[in-house]
Amino acid sequence: MSEFVTVARVEEVEPGSARQVFVGDTPVAICNIDGKFHAISDICTHEEFFLSGGVIEGCEIECPMHRGVFNIKTGEAEVYPAEDPLPVYPCRVVDGEVQVSVPG
Ligand code: FES
Repeated sequence: MSEFVTVARVEEVEPGSARQVFVGDTPVAICNIDGKFHAISDICTHEEFFLSGGVIEGCEIECPMHRGVFNIKTGEAEVYPAEDPLPVYPCRVVDGEVQVSVPG
């Protein structure tokens, strides 16, 4: 199991928004859904556009490039042209810090 690393403070990711962070070379989108934090790959599985610039509605994020939609909690692709699921990473909050664990 990979170690958790701190990537942001909770106040840096507003509810209903996503923020791009890097764990090593891996871009990760930290998403705040109603005060709960989730971590997904920031690379759309359709054509590798950054997802963190997309709109979040409920537990879904819409890719800003072609409007494919993914479930933030499961990584499942829900709306075409997104078809392949996204990696989802363990995410936790410790002492006001958002931490994520990305496999090496
Ligand atoms: S790059 Fe995300 S839907 Fe096409």
